[in-house]
Amino acid sequence: MTITATSFDWVRELVHRESAIVLQPGKEYLVEARLLPIARQMGMADVGKLVDTVRQRPDPDSTRRIVEALTTNETSWFRDGDPFTTLTSTVLPALQASRGPHERLQIWSAACSSGQEPYTIAMLLEDALPGAAARVSITATDISREMVQRTKAGRFSQLEVNRGLPAPMLVRHFTRAGSEWEVSPALRRMVTASTCNLAAPLPRMGPFDVVYLRNVLIYFDLPTKQSILRRVRELMRPDGWLFLGAAETTLGVDDSWERVVLGRSSAYRPLKGA
Ligand SMILES: C[S@@+](CC[C@H](N)C(=O)[O-])C[C@H]1O[C@@H](n2cnc3c(N)ncnc32)[C@H](O)[C@@H]1O
Repeated sequence: MTITATSFDWVRELVHRESAIVLQPGKEYLVEARLLPIARQMGMADVGKLVDTVRQRPDPDSTRRIVEALTTNETSWFRDGDPFTTLTSTVLPALQASRGPHERLQIWSAACSSGQEPYTIAMLLEDALPGAAARVSITATDISREMVQRTKAGRFSQLEVNRGLPAPMLVRHFTRAGSEWEVSPALRRMVTASTCNLAAPLPRMGPFDVVYLRNVLIYFDLPTKQSILRRVRELMRPDGWLFLGAAETTLGVDDSWERVVLGRSSAYRPLKGA
């Protein structure tokens, strides 16, 4: 191991300050593994040297690369099933009943990783709503520039499509591009990807009918979760729907949400008057 306690603390503080991600003590191995490729690209022998160099002369590009390297981008198609299938079985009919069948739908995938989440939503809506591309906009955001680029590209390896994408949907919505699979132009028209740090002031967006804020609150401390939930709520329509990850909840974090059981999972709706 090349990283000292002082270097590890410096990385932890940097990552917390810039992204709100909490790196617990004991994650030295993670810092080593994620930062070694950056050290090598910058011509340095080890992570200790990289940290010393950036500490002594911090520059925005190097610090950002370090922060982004410490995000965890694990994702898959239809992750956990119900948060996606209930979009078209329950959420969409409820929104159409209260608003009329032709109103535009604005959806936010707020930690989109490499794009599986926003394109899962796009495929479901394209199959459920004739001409969906003209009526649905999906805003896909992530702190990581690499993940945003990957979402924009809409290209996935065979290994990635094997993780949860049903074969009929692959055939319907993708074409082969060399060794990869590329999403159809119709899906791409629905999805707009950009960087957005949930821990910083949010850009003017929305108002959103449905927000997927999945498997990202787990990385933050309680005050950060509370602040993000409050600011996300401000960008949602009063009758909107919020989906969190299976290990995440608003309960005991922010009591201005009502929990609704949907299949084997739950969604959260802004409490009226809260
Ligand atoms: C585990 S992935 C979850 C992806 C997807 N939502 C899912 O459930 O499969 C977490 C994502 O959150 C992003 N992330 C971490 N901190 C963030 C922050 N402060 N602002 C925005 N995105 C962040 C990471 O870059 C990563 O792509």
